[in-house]
Amino acid sequence: MATVTTPPELSTHPPLHPSDSEAGRRDAPWWRSAVIYQIYPRSFADSDGDGVGDLPGITRRLDHVARLGADAIWLSPFYSSPQADAGYDVADYRTVDPVFGTLQDADALLTRAHELGLRAIVDIVPNHTSDQHPWFVEALTSAPGSAARARYLFRDGTGPGGDQPPNHWRSVFGGPAWQRVTEADGSPGQWYLHLFDVHQPDLDWTNPGVPAEFASILRFWLDRGADGFRIDVANGLVKAPGLPDWDHEQGMMQGAVETDEQPPYWDQDGVHAIYRSWHDVVAEYPGDRVLVAEAWVPSLDRLARYVCPDELDQAFNFSYLLSPWRAKDVREVITDSLQAMDSVGAPTTWVLSNHDVIRHATRFGYPAGSDLPKGIGVDDPQPDAVLGLRRARAATLLMLALPGSAYLYQGEELGLPEHTTMPDEVRQDPTWVRSGHTQRGRDGCRVPIPWEADAPSCGFGPGPLTWLPQPQGWPDYALDRQVGVPGSTYELYRAALEQRAARGLGAGSLAWLDGYDDDVVAFVNDRTLVVANLGEMPVALPADVRVIVSSLPLPDDGTGPVVPSDVTVWAARPDHSPRQMATSSTAFAATRTPSLPARFTSYISASARRTTDCGSSPRAATTTPMLTVMPTRCPST
Ligand code: GLC
Ligand code: MG
Repeated sequence: MATVTTPPELSTHPPLHPSDSEAGRRDAPWWRSAVIYQIYPRSFADSDGDGVGDLPGITRRLDHVARLGADAIWLSPFYSSPQADAGYDVADYRTVDPVFGTLQDADALLTRAHELGLRAIVDIVPNHTSDQHPWFVEALTSAPGSAARARYLFRDGTGPGGDQPPNHWRSVFGGPAWQRVTEADGSPGQWYLHLFDVHQPDLDWTNPGVPAEFASILRFWLDRGADGFRIDVANGLVKAPGLPDWDHEQGMMQGAVETDEQPPYWDQDGVHAIYRSWHDVVAEYPGDRVLVAEAWVPSLDRLARYVCPDELDQAFNFSYLLSPWRAKDVREVITDSLQAMDSVGAPTTWVLSNHDVIRHATRFGYPAGSDLPKGIGVDDPQPDAVLGLRRARAATLLMLALPGSAYLYQGEELGLPEHTTMPDEVRQDPTWVRSGHTQRGRDGCRVPIPWEADAPSCGFGPGPLTWLPQPQGWPDYALDRQVGVPGSTYELYRAALEQRAARGLGAGSLAWLDGYDDDVVAFVNDRTLVVANLGEMPVALPADVRVIVSSLPLPDDGTGPVVPSDVTVWAARPDHSPRQMATSSTAFAATRTPSLPARFTSYISASARRTTDCGSSPRAATTTPMLTVMPTRCPST
């Protein structure tokens, strides 16, 4: 084995982030520390064999999510929709699309979730409707300047005969963001704005009828028992007055890249008034309902503005998702995230995958910092799948130790990779067509998930049909091949979630740990030491720690377990009080006990599962200085 570098002494910095209890939040709402599991209804489970997942399918399989140890689900849209953008084109926000079931099925799903102790967050799509929404149908048959048109962004064209679009804005999915309509009398007419697909016309949020309708939709789902909303394109609802020109490519993710100039349709200050009013709607309901923003904004400081005390509760941390697997970047984004969110008193969120990005088991299979295309096809460079999964497991274990709320995307607990060799002719994402077949889009992360290795469609549905093809090798990832199998990705997630809950990591603190080389990310969250080795050389653990979970088995160099490259470890020091672990004065002596009992080095220590050292040493009254939480970055009301 290569030489193991043993740091002489490991000491912690003062906590960068205090635990919720240190910050005086003893009865913090559930979502501050929750693990939220994203269900993409088309691809989770199909009950009727039509190849498309549906609500009864989800209800039947929901115990999987509870057993995994998540606290909540977030359901991507299941509303009436022509499915031009897989349901993110909503024709009726108060009904369920027949492909997914009925409103009764939605009620049954919410009831089942609550029985299982899971909260259920639904998706709200306020930036645009479907072009089949009655409002847009009416707008098309109404005259320019009519009240029906005023709910959307209709404008006259430019140039002779108005045959050029009103400006150069581009659709996120490729091509122009404007579409010309034919007026009732058959003449070429006005243009309407669609930042996404042509079948997704943007609403005009300055029209009072629009906010009123959405407040009523929120109430509709809150009344049915929804525990909150994930807000689609939360950064896009308001456009700069006068729709000033902007002539650049603008993908959704680029919204999260710091540039000198930002497009006049993302992250406009006007969105915050909308979220303050939504805050008030949700506050009328009991039980800590949650509002979470999907906002691709250029900095964590801008993101913090969405989660000010009188606005939304949390926002997806895409800066974290976009961070390369490099220790310096990882440390930096964690620090910035916690500082930005703490400055407004909001929990930080962590996320590595969702239905819009390349699955992280595949992303990490490319050299760190690679600029990946939007979707991978058979003629693109293929990932190193083994490295990708190894790093994904390490990255997930690192993420789940961070204080705040973590989002998981269905199938990542099985270690699913992206489908990177999908035939182009079966692609469904409008990105592929709208980009003129230059960007393959997001189908590769949306493939129906495998439940049973030997069943047709891997148990996704009763028959063989799947709306997107499952790649070769899918059975190897099936849930029934992983349950109870030591070392499986599923068992890693389960153990991690169990320990995260038992050790209170989500509501915990973070103090960086000095002493390792730069390519090791190491911190202490209350009583838990977390070491992620992003370097090439194995590193030793401090002498008297007890390994709780590790992303791969830890070899023993004769003096104790060592952490190999691309592996994360959680460890505990049961004889030290939580308080000591989190303060600056603590040092871990690096002297080794001669040998550690074998169970400490096992892949996932069975004894650790039974450990109830949580709270075994009484926590002293606050001795760590409290961080002053000052909402200094919030827009004024
Ligand atoms: C969000 C959704 C994405 C959808 C887009 C338009 O980014 O996550 O799937 O295509 O909004 O609604
Ligand atoms: Mg179905």
